[in-house]
Amino acid sequence: MSERIFNFSAGPGVLPESVLKQAQRDLYALPGVGMSILEVSHRSAPFETVIQEAEADLRALLSIPDNYKVLFMQGGASTQFALLAMNLLPKDKSADYLLTGSWGAAAFKEAKKLGKVREAASTADTNYNRLPASTEITLDPDAAFVHFTSNETIFGVEFQDEPTSGTVPLVCDMSSNFVSRPVDVSKYGMIYAGAQKNAGPAGVTIVILRDDLLERVPAGLPSMFDYQVMAKNGSMYNTPPCFSIYICGLVFKWLLHEIGGLDKVLELNQRKAKLLYDSIDHSDGYYRGHAETNCRSLMNVPFRLPSEELENQFVKEATAAGLDGLKGHRSVGGLRASIYNAFPEAGVARLVSFMDEFRKRNG
Ligand SMILES: Cc1ncc(COP(=O)(O)O)c(C=O)c1O
Repeated sequence: MSERIFNFSAGPGVLPESVLKQAQRDLYALPGVGMSILEVSHRSAPFETVIQEAEADLRALLSIPDNYKVLFMQGGASTQFALLAMNLLPKDKSADYLLTGSWGAAAFKEAKKLGKVREAASTADTNYNRLPASTEITLDPDAAFVHFTSNETIFGVEFQDEPTSGTVPLVCDMSSNFVSRPVDVSKYGMIYAGAQKNAGPAGVTIVILRDDLLERVPAGLPSMFDYQVMAKNGSMYNTPPCFSIYICGLVFKWLLHEIGGLDKVLELNQRKAKLLYDSIDHSDGYYRGHAETNCRSLMNVPFRLPSEELENQFVKEATAAGLDGLKGHRSVGGLRASIYNAFPEAGVARLVSFMDEFRKRNG
């Protein structure tokens, strides 16, 4: 099969077609270099240009202030769950975690192996279908940081604004809504994101870290786990994931020059999500969204049908109709449509008409 289908996967997710085409054209030989990106040394001038442009374009997209480092790391967001505790959680302090889904809970569990952590709020009691009210959040004013997950990929719950943390640095796992909307980076101590949803392919994790937090890094960490070492070496203490960084760079250029920046991509994302949520809301209860309406994610839309049997039938027929990756995660069940930045609006329209037609046949 060489035709493209609509890919609703939660990650790795869909990439912009123009990025794939450019990567395909340049894979045999980067223009002017005569070698593929897969073959050039990371110490060479062509790769220096790739990584420097990727960082500069990301800085431009997110207006990252100068007192923040941008790191391109490996090991996925899951490795950051541990590294941020190793680097930023001193022995005499504890860190607060807001648990709004299983990724936040996973981050909490990992940090707990390495230091003192506190559950500052949790919505596990309602199967993570909502955000905690401010009255449910109990923060420690002396905490080393407050950690939250801006978008819970499995439960489809997204923060509309940053939670307030006073003077305590905010640390955010932004894996599944990174560069999907404008963000005021200056409100954060650290942002991290596995690239494989909105920013590029698997294999690189982006870390944006405020300079003063680097001073907390204790001596003696293994070099590859040490944010100071990574920062000092421009993310090239060892061989970085060159290809993944190259693709992220192309995605950042696409966002800047083809889409027109993060305000524009937010508009597109809002339009796509509205199409889908309207279809759920106007289905007389046939389709039921998991998340409460005030915190619905623009990126991941989990929903149920009247029975598991119908859900299985829906997935099977949708797949046959070129709508792939809709099976939901087992913790919610049902369906999940992930509609990241690069997911085309036409694909959402196709899903919506498939949903209407399926309901007419099986309602
Ligand atoms: C919000 C969030 N955090 C963390 C992860 C784990 O990322 P990785 O597979 O890069 O470790 C995921 C993966 O889906 C995620 O969605």
